[in-house]
Amino acid sequence: MILVLIIVLFFVGEVREVVAEPTAPFSFQIQQVSGICPQSRKTRKAPSRYLKKKIPILATSENLAKGKRLFNQDAKPTACKLCHGARGNGNGSLARRMAPPPRNFTCSEVMKDLPPGQLFWIIRNGSRGTAMPAHKPTLKPEEIWQLILYIKSFLAA
Ligand code: HEC
Repeated sequence: MILVLIIVLFFVGEVREVVAEPTAPFSFQIQQVSGICPQSRKTRKAPSRYLKKKIPILATSENLAKGKRLFNQDAKPTACKLCHGARGNGNGSLARRMAPPPRNFTCSEVMKDLPPGQLFWIIRNGSRGTAMPAHKPTLKPEEIWQLILYIKSFLAA
């Protein structure tokens, strides 16, 4: 009797695996190009005078639109979306096999602990030893804050 039960359970397991098969390549892809939440984050901490900074501009639709434009096309050396993804999930076309992966801005578990000044400092100076470039020569402080307003909007989406 127990033997029959074991055999039945074994078959149920097999069937489950087969049924689960079609979704497998999808989850594999997500893992490979990040979109992972929470990501392990080893980014250096901004100096405390940055961590205390408040966003000095308002989240007006104009500022958000400017941030979006920079994120998707205007930022130099390359648009942020190529790494961070148009949906902000760290899944951009250049992100494949990047280690560490670009930050997933849709992950509240990680993003809620990052003050705006931390984001500002990394966008301005880059994250040393990673693909995250410094934008000090190409973005004005106001443009960086517009980008931060836009990045924060991924959490609400
Ligand atoms: C070439 C790829 C690439 C581009 C382009 C890029 N990033 Fe990043 N970004 C990364 C990577 C990789 C990380 C993760 C760095 C780390 O783990 O320290 C990152 C991290 C970040 C972080 C997280 C900082 C933190 O403290 O966790 C912010 C904010 C950010 N990027 C904003 C931007 C913005 C805004 C742009 C466009 C102006 C941009 N990035 C363009 C690859 C990129």
